[in-house]
Amino acid sequence: MKNPLLEQYRSFLKDTVRKRIDFSQTDQSRGIAPPPIEKPFPREASLIDLSIDESWKDIPGASLVEAIKHRKSHRTFLNRSLTLYELSFLLWATQGIRHLIDRGHAYRTVPSAGCRHALETYLTVLNCEGLEPGVYRYLPLEHKVLFEFTEDRLKEKIVEAVFGQTYPGKAAVTFIWTAIPYRMEWRYDLAAHKVIAIDAGHVCQNLYLACEAIGAGTCAIAAYDQEALDRLLRIDGLEEFTVYLASVGKVKS
Ligand SMILES: Cc1cc2nc3c(=O)[nH]c(=O)nc-3n(C[C@H](O)[C@H](O)[C@H](O)COP(=O)(O)O)c2cc1C
Repeated sequence: MKNPLLEQYRSFLKDTVRKRIDFSQTDQSRGIAPPPIEKPFPREASLIDLSIDESWKDIPGASLVEAIKHRKSHRTFLNRSLTLYELSFLLWATQGIRHLIDRGHAYRTVPSAGCRHALETYLTVLNCEGLEPGVYRYLPLEHKVLFEFTEDRLKEKIVEAVFGQTYPGKAAVTFIWTAIPYRMEWRYDLAAHKVIAIDAGHVCQNLYLACEAIGAGTCAIAAYDQEALDRLLRIDGLEEFTVYLASVGKVKS
């Protein structure tokens, strides 16, 4: 191999590390309580109710076959808002709770290694009925969104944070997934990181398919300025950092 760095970086995709881990010494095995499966929020936080209607009868819908067949990346969006109902549906489809065991364990609409669900969902909202433009966070346990803050020049800052890709500035909402690695490390130690990345793929694919059901489209984004985006979300970049994002907007049928 010409570039030795390639071998080093490729190893991230392998599971070789698992054989080096003493699983009797993980925090889980040592009896340390699991970290919360949802990032805590202040009691006085401003929360917005979302619709929860697991039959989603007001979603126009698409058959699973149609959704899979038509899914593609959209980078051109109509200048139309998402309704809060539609946003509720997208959040449920990507991170909603399917079965709550207790506040440390829950099954969601997407799979996750060891059911650890190490991702949080932030939203930069530009055009959604019932939500002021700003930064929000989804609370799966409550099925609400938490208003985080407004931000001057939000549209421009998102575009800057994805190295000038313009379509997030025209999207109704951009989903930004952060990882809280300890949630996965608690169980898997050094084998945690690859599976967090795999988990993020499932989440984004559900977003693609769910968008098909509401006349919307999305485009995954992995090319972003790590520090700029973490700064924009006001997260520390160590215990929590951005791993993936996807912009959503209404599209021509
Ligand atoms: C992990 C991942 C990262 C991606 N990052 C970007 C990106 O930063 N910018 C972009 O315009 N598209 C991005 N895409 C979209 C791909 O370019 C797109 O999926 C690919 O061209 C195939 O097109 P399709 O999704 O319409 O089938 C990304 C897709 C994936 C799965």
